[in-house]
Amino acid sequence: MWSRRNLADFRRCVADLLQDADVQRMHAIPQHAKGIDCFDHSLFVAYLSFSLCRRLGLDERAAARAGLLHDLYLCDWNQTTVGLFERLVIHPGMALRNARRFGLSGLEEDIIRTHMWPVTLRDMPRHRESWVVSLADKLCTVGEVCAFYRLARVRARLQPERA
Ligand SMILES: [Fe+2]
Ligand SMILES: [Fe+2]
Repeated sequence: MWSRRNLADFRRCVADLLQDADVQRMHAIPQHAKGIDCFDHSLFVAYLSFSLCRRLGLDERAAARAGLLHDLYLCDWNQTTVGLFERLVIHPGMALRNARRFGLSGLEEDIIRTHMWPVTLRDMPRHRESWVVSLADKLCTVGEVCAFYRLARVRARLQPERA
């Protein structure tokens, strides 16, 4: 999964997005575990989704790009009164609105909109890539909470300049 070729091809797919100010703003938003921010999480989801889609012969570029943007909701919930369940339900729509200016394909829109399924019952994935990103999101979340992220040095692998 961490092969040089995979990492180089992945970086090529998301290079323009990584330079974007809004994408960088995700660094200021805390995510599932202490010391891991929304950018760290999104980059992890994007890379796992890219790797899985490459293995499965699916659209790895769409998975990487929509994976990186899937949580671009840009809101620190700690500064709001929004409850946990509501956050889970509304943030894919918020992320989709923010991500649309990147000129998303229909597949990329579906990936972002449906990534929280089954919490968002009506928004079920319509494409195989969407299923992959939704699964990767859940796997990465578990990996972050249970310390796999730190132990596997995921940040150092994906963001060598920030490790
Ligand atoms: Fe999410
Ligand atoms: Fe996520």
